[in-house]
Amino acid sequence: MCGIIGYIGKKSLDEVLIEGLKNLEYRGYDSSGIALQNFNDVQIIKSSGKIKELEKKLQEINLINSNIGIAHTRWATHGNPNIENAHPHQVGNITLVHNGIIENANELRQKLTKEGVKFKSQTDTEVLCALINFYYKNDISSAIKKALKEVKGSYALAILVKKDESIYAIKKDSPLIVGIDKDGYFIASDISAIIKYTNKYIVLEENELVKLSQNDYIITKNNKIIKKSIQSTEIDFESITKSNYKHYMLKEIMEEEILLEKTFNIYNDKDSLIDISKYEEIHIIGCGSAMYAGMVGKTLLEEKSNIRCYVECASEYRYKKIFYDRKTLVILISQSGETADTIAAMRKAKENKIDTLAIVNVKTSTIARESDYKIFIEAGKEIAVATTKAYLLQITIFSLLAYFSSINKHILKEINLKEEEKNILSHLKNILEQRKKYYEIAKKIFQEEDIYFIGRGIDYSLCLEGSLKLKEISYIHSEAYQAGELKHGTIALINKNTPVIAIISDQNIADKTLSNIEEVKSRGANVIIISTKKISNYENNIVVPKISDFFQPILIIPILQLIAYEVANLRNCDIDKPKNLAKSVTVE
Ligand code: F6R
Repeated sequence: MCGIIGYIGKKSLDEVLIEGLKNLEYRGYDSSGIALQNFNDVQIIKSSGKIKELEKKLQEINLINSNIGIAHTRWATHGNPNIENAHPHQVGNITLVHNGIIENANELRQKLTKEGVKFKSQTDTEVLCALINFYYKNDISSAIKKALKEVKGSYALAILVKKDESIYAIKKDSPLIVGIDKDGYFIASDISAIIKYTNKYIVLEENELVKLSQNDYIITKNNKIIKKSIQSTEIDFESITKSNYKHYMLKEIMEEEILLEKTFNIYNDKDSLIDISKYEEIHIIGCGSAMYAGMVGKTLLEEKSNIRCYVECASEYRYKKIFYDRKTLVILISQSGETADTIAAMRKAKENKIDTLAIVNVKTSTIARESDYKIFIEAGKEIAVATTKAYLLQITIFSLLAYFSSINKHILKEINLKEEEKNILSHLKNILEQRKKYYEIAKKIFQEEDIYFIGRGIDYSLCLEGSLKLKEISYIHSEAYQAGELKHGTIALINKNTPVIAIISDQNIADKTLSNIEEVKSRGANVIIISTKKISNYENNIVVPKISDFFQPILIIPILQLIAYEVANLRNCDIDKPKNLAKSVTVE
């Protein structure tokens, strides 16, 4: 969601803050702002829109001489995306930036209004700022603690206090790290904000308060100083640049081949993954694309490994009655490892003493830290808001889990996995090289208003992801349907030339899907088929090599991603930063 960067040190402050914001912009981008502090003076500059608007403003203003500052890029929760609601917020002696949501903000606002506080914005953040200021009587640590005791919700905060040359920061249910280099200290919601300057960082845990000063930093919890280990990240600055690609999304799709090879090399035998075949039931929980990856996993685990699975989106799972009456494993699937609902689902399982397994990309994330077992996907940093390479690796992990489970359960005799993987990698390379083909398809559909995806079984799960990818980056209305279900209502929306993208990878039910294709074709639909066998009489037919069922989705998904990309590109969309979206949804 939103992004935080703060810095105290010898480097050029505005440069560090703007660079940090630019590298965080993928997390939220409706407004931004910085606060620079010079003992008594705090200068706040804010702008609506993208970071480049803020950057322009900074060039036109005389900035105070300062080496302490905080900055924020926002994804609106409370209040419109305008300058008033942009962070930093200032009340009295306190200036702060905030990620998260204060759920009882209205209540606290009323209380503070009665105390005479006048609010300038509609945000929950300003309320929190006013509350800390309300309790501030020369002891900031105690004011922060008192205020946060009254707060319900999630927060990552970076705070400046007038006449105090330090940055204070604290978090609950929203990530925050301290960056360390020889010239100074950083506070950031995400390593990418500071990776240009340092790869050394400390992860803050719930309600640890850090004070960053010119020459040192102190972390306390419950008034006691605590020592924490300094970690280093393998991510380098180069990996978060676009290289020669027009968009991060394209770069990330093109990285899929090399990342898949890495994944195959890491998870190369059944001992490299946890044995999930011992569980009677598996709950796979995630949000958005992660959940759709879970749906692919469910089909593979049920059909191929005979393991009963249940898939649910985390925002439902966390509040719903769940029967934990079998030996159950809950799999949390999340690229960021910070999605609020998925974290809550994980904690629910843990409260019920159920084993949890995270399939996660960010190794330092909350889900990675708190789950019992973890499988890391090796996607590297994913910057484009719409996930591509992480999704592909998530489904790959499910393919491998299903394959090794079916061997553990003696359902399947081992195949020559190394040979199969070599085969898959060479097919994937070919598929990624055929951009022209997807561009030609995109040209035929990019001006349409509605696009449908149909498929059965595992293909339906892939349709859901293809449809989500298309709608989120191109803003074309799109829906995915089980192929047999379309005629129960939605077929009414099929008109002459309405694009219908059909996937047929499962030969057992190919004829059934083909009949559904005929149904839409006879209503005038412009049918595009992605199949593992050539389908005669259809001009738009992309044929994908047939490989083992366990891995077949790996060869289909990049095609859907590239069609979505080409469509959005033809429509001149802001592909890496689609409107209203944010990478890593850290609020409910
Ligand atoms: C869509 C997309 C989202 C995420 C979802 C979960 O392209 O990226 O649907 O998959 O917000 O995010 P993570 O995987 O970080 O939990």
